[in-house]
Amino acid sequence: MTTFYEEIGGEAFFAELVSQFYAQVAVDPILRPMYPDTDLKAAALRLQWFLEQYWGGPTTYQENRGHPRLRMRHAEFHINLAAHDAWVKAMRSAVDGVEMKPELKAQLWSYLEMAAAAMINQPD
Ligand code: HEM
Repeated sequence: MTTFYEEIGGEAFFAELVSQFYAQVAVDPILRPMYPDTDLKAAALRLQWFLEQYWGGPTTYQENRGHPRLRMRHAEFHINLAAHDAWVKAMRSAVDGVEMKPELKAQLWSYLEMAAAAMINQPD
């Protein structure tokens, strides 16, 4: 049985997706100030590892960062609806920028939308 990770294109796919996402973060007026100044590459790698692990790929995230506890790890960032919308917009543009089968895209997107909604931790 192949995993979603393999089916969608493995490491090369996730590296490309995350690279496109961070290219958006780098120029987004809401998101850019939230991310570490000098360290966007390291942040990109953490997201790539997480997504690879989530979809059945290598467990590099867990080995380097421990249990994901994503809501807790985001608690230090002020994530209101505007930050959520900026994140979703950047990720949508990344998802639309990478080739994938429509059914895989639908599955990937529905997870990302659900996860982004769960990360909101501030009222507007
Ligand atoms: C909803 C809006 C979101 C905002 C504004 C946001 C913002 C951030 C920021 C500022 C960081 C710190 C960058 C770093 O040093 O790693 C971060 C880390 C991270 N985010 Fe988000 N995030 C959002 C949603 C999500 C979602 C939906 C996911 C997963 C699907 C996610 C996964 C991660 C991961 C894996 C890390 C690294 C955690 C670690 O190991 O330290 N984020 N996020």
